[in-house]
Amino acid sequence: IALIGFMGAGKSTGAAAFQEKFGRTAIEMDEEIARREGKSIPDIFKEKGEDYFRELETAFLRELSGREGLVISCGGGVPLRPENVALLRKGGVVVWLAARPETILERTKGSDDRPLLRGKKDIGSISQLMDARREKYEAAAGIRVWTDGKTGEEICREILGALDEAI
Ligand code: S3P
Repeated sequence: IALIGFMGAGKSTGAAAFQEKFGRTAIEMDEEIARREGKSIPDIFKEKGEDYFRELETAFLRELSGREGLVISCGGGVPLRPENVALLRKGGVVVWLAARPETILERTKGSDDRPLLRGKKDIGSISQLMDARREKYEAAAGIRVWTDGKTGEEICREILGALDEAI
C-alpha cells in the first residue's frame, strides 16, 4: 500500500497506525532518505538541491518495489514523476490522503522541516500548491481518503473501508 498526498495529509500517521494495528512494515520515505544521507531534508535541499533529492526518492522506490507487505508513506512530491507512479502502481494499491488547506496549515505550522513550505504557511499559498498538484495525485491513486479531523487509527480504518469497497 502506498500513501500519497500533500504535506501534512496524514501519510506518516496513517502508515504508523497500519504498522501498529496490522503489523505491516511502515516505510517513511523522508525519514529513511534523511537517515541514509546523514542529513535533514532541508539540508539535502539546501546543499544538494531538489533534483538530487528527487533522484534519491526514485532510487529508493525502485529498491522498495521488490518488497512485499509494506505500507509506504511517500514524500508529497513523489507522484510528480511518472516513473515513481508506475513503480507504486506496479507494486500495489495507491491511496491518496487528502485534507483541506486549513487542516494542512494546522498540521504543518509548528515544524520547519519542509523546505517547500518555508515562507508559505498561509492558506493562499497552500491552496495554490495543492491546486498545482491535485491532478497528479488524482491520476496516481485508485482511492481517495479524507483525513480532516481523523486520528491515525481512523485514517487506517477509512483506508481499509475504501479498499474493501474498491474490490
Ligand atoms: C515534499 C514533501 C515532503 C518532503 C519534501 C518535499 C513535497 O514530504 O519529501 O519536503 O514536494 O511535497 P512530506 O509529504 O512527508 O511532508
